[in-house]
Amino acid sequence: MDRPGMVWMGQNTTHLEPPPEVVDALIESTRSREFQLYAPALGFEELRGLIAEDLGLVGFEVMVTDGAVGGLHHICTALAPSITRLVTSDPGWPWPARFLALTGVPTSTIEIYSPDCHYKLQARQMEEVIEEGSLIYLIDPLNPLGSAYEREELEAIVDLARRTGSLLVHDCTYRHFAAGHTLAAELYPEGTFTTYSFSKWLGLAGLRLGAVVARPDLLDRLSRVPSNPLGANIQAQRAAIAGLKAKGEWLERVLDVNAGNQRIVAAAIAASEVGEIVVEPSHGNFLAVDVSAAGWDAEAVCEALLDEEVFIRPGTYQSPAFGRRFVKISTSVPTEWAERFAAAWSKLTPRAGRP
Ligand SMILES: Cc1ncc(COP(=O)(O)O)c(C=O)c1O
Repeated sequence: MDRPGMVWMGQNTTHLEPPPEVVDALIESTRSREFQLYAPALGFEELRGLIAEDLGLVGFEVMVTDGAVGGLHHICTALAPSITRLVTSDPGWPWPARFLALTGVPTSTIEIYSPDCHYKLQARQMEEVIEEGSLIYLIDPLNPLGSAYEREELEAIVDLARRTGSLLVHDCTYRHFAAGHTLAAELYPEGTFTTYSFSKWLGLAGLRLGAVVARPDLLDRLSRVPSNPLGANIQAQRAAIAGLKAKGEWLERVLDVNAGNQRIVAAAIAASEVGEIVVEPSHGNFLAVDVSAAGWDAEAVCEALLDEEVFIRPGTYQSPAFGRRFVKISTSVPTEWAERFAAAWSKLTPRAGRP
């Protein structure tokens, strides 16, 4: 951030010119000094309604949170006394397991970096570790690989959850980038928490706004004691309302730019002798690229690109087991950034000692 020339392709954040309606809403909220107020504990009614509508979930309640991660933290904290185990994946997103570790709840981490399981959690793998009363953490589309769950895969997982009296967190942070997406909440309404983010599709990462959506009786387990009873950032909520109202045109543009950038990145990788895209097509605003066959270590690749002022992430942040093998490149960025990435990547050559 303090390096203005840096190409920022490591956090799956969106760096395009925002919708003018969003900027206007922020300015208007600031001018009218709304920041001197607290927002309602569960968020503005209008925003809660728009989020439920965006997901197409009828009869569900919405709790607006401080980013999706604020919601995940609250789910973990509020449910910890009543769950037996967390079931999650490697690669995955490490925070829920870390939150639950503080409370002594054990985690089973299933390794999914393999075509055998299509680079995502399968019910048959979960069956081996799940206990009665577990919490399943399912990221869909999956950061960092870009795999997304088919309806039948979700049905098998939901069936397992029902049989074992387990709850499901369906982390839908990247849902808007997916080509076709099924909500587990439709299949397992009585046991699913859906988490929602404004950081990625709308590009509001720094404003810290997200939501947890669940059936009223389930959400009540969280909303009885909200993690932030004084309400999430009021300006962020105004921006999110404006963003949801302007969503159609905006999202079309973001998806278009994202797809174009993924083509640029893929072409650069294909033209070089370094790297293979792990999951194609990616359903996220990022691509995971395995660099191990060219003899590279993921962290060394990131350092080499950093020398060219291009920031991408090594897999190690999200995968203790496989993270040295792959890097992650975020693609909802200006096209010139993707081109800068391509130029930097083209300087990589295979390393001695390749397998
Ligand atoms: C899988 C996953 N869940 C949650 C989050 C957090 O999103 P937010 O910025 O809304 O807190 C991220 C952010 O990278 C993520 O990748």
